[in-house]
Amino acid sequence: MKLLSGNSNLPLAQEMAGYLGTTLANANIKRFSDMEIFVEILDNVRGQDVFFIQSTSYPANDNIMEMLIAIDALKRASAKRITCVFPYFGYARQDRKPGPRTPISAKLVANIITKAGADRVLALDLHAGQIQGFFDIPLDHVYASPAIAEDILEHYPNKNLVIVSPDVGGVVRARALAKRIDADLAIVDKRRERAGISEVLNIIGEVEGRDCILFDDIIDSAGTMCNAAAALAKGGAASVSAYATHGVLSGPALDRIRNSALKELVVTNSIRMSEDAKKVEKIRVISIAPLLAEALKRVAEETSVSSLFDEPLAVKH
Ligand code: R5P
Repeated sequence: MKLLSGNSNLPLAQEMAGYLGTTLANANIKRFSDMEIFVEILDNVRGQDVFFIQSTSYPANDNIMEMLIAIDALKRASAKRITCVFPYFGYARQDRKPGPRTPISAKLVANIITKAGADRVLALDLHAGQIQGFFDIPLDHVYASPAIAEDILEHYPNKNLVIVSPDVGGVVRARALAKRIDADLAIVDKRRERAGISEVLNIIGEVEGRDCILFDDIIDSAGTMCNAAAALAKGGAASVSAYATHGVLSGPALDRIRNSALKELVVTNSIRMSEDAKKVEKIRVISIAPLLAEALKRVAEETSVSSLFDEPLAVKH
């Protein structure tokens, strides 16, 4: 087995390698002066089971291209099997046509990766489960919820918790987390009038006097989370915190979080955090490396990946 990483999230890849008691294989991924990408695999990979770790977060197009070129290099170097590991899979929210004459970019990205020569995919908290079907190669979908549940139980040990989905689309995800930690569920019914603008309408469920924990897969411009937090505070919540697997944190996100009703926002390190985001005291990062590394090991050993999610504390963090 060989682990390789692109440049998008090296610290996470190194942490995963450490968990597995190994180091990342040597590769030279650099830019020519015209910004074209060049990849040279420095270790022998002939006949090896190779895992290429890359979050296709900002700059998504560059990170995708880096991965495609690395796959091509690995293929031509006779790697036996190439698994693309996506701690964060960008373009995932473009998973259907929102209107006439629009693309399904998530499917296009899946096609390109497959065409480049990937044999398998390991992905963390895809925006929608059906994206698994966009890949015509085996895909293992793993969830951050065991790590998140463990963190909630450690930092919010009271019995007054309500897990809240910040929109109707995230109810299944929030319900699964609530079930895992035996908490109640509430839903913020949000209507988005147009892209980039979110509007909170109603709270479904009991939140008055309760400690509310919002849970979403992605926090991007932070409009969804901060509007939901404001609605919960207005609805009489005793406190409001939030968890999201992927901290995209673009545009106005940091200012919104600073000025929000949120006591704390917890994200995983599926996306490498910017220096500006690190300065926001309300944001805390938990590591997804043990869980992803364990899943990767099970793919390599061809043992069960799904059993990793049978118990909240299956992996020690
Ligand atoms: C949308 O369906 C996702 O699950 C997130 O709720 C959304 O991407 C968050 O975006 P933002 O932080 O920009 O409101």
